[in-house]
Amino acid sequence: MDPGISEQDDEKKKHTSVCVGREDDIRKLERMTAVVHDREVVIFYHKGEYHAMDIRCYHAGGPLHLGEIEDFNGQSCIVCPWHKYKITLATGEGLYQSINPKDPSARPQWCSKGVKQRIHTVTVDNGNIYVTLSEEPFKCDSDFYATGEFKVIQSSS
Ligand code: FES
Repeated sequence: MDPGISEQDDEKKKHTSVCVGREDDIRKLERMTAVVHDREVVIFYHKGEYHAMDIRCYHAGGPLHLGEIEDFNGQSCIVCPWHKYKITLATGEGLYQSINPKDPSARPQWCSKGVKQRIHTVTVDNGNIYVTLSEEPFKCDSDFYATGEFKVIQSSS
């Protein structure tokens, strides 16, 4: 067998959608956790929308499923319970506040560090919630805690 083909098949399989639960349940609980192709994710239901992301915070692996959701600069964010980093639910961007040190009267401004937490796709079909892992090829900081030695759920293969 050609090992190249089998690797491609494995890669394709990682991006097939996986049923993680019922819509009724997540609407009640507003969040759930799941393992999708050996990757631990958290799914939030917030303001009528679903969002899925890697469960371990990009900063140091904090458990995002235990964080609170708050709005910052008009964006809904999960606040990591460990060091209070703010991550937008919609895009996975890390937000921080910055102030111009040369202007003491300036008010702090919200800024983005860029996408730090990998976001996955949530779809609903016939009352079931499905998650499809992100295929975005960029290296995301949260990959560190979702793969390799820091991964909580170890691959069965
Ligand atoms: Fe999440 Fe530090 S581990 S803020």
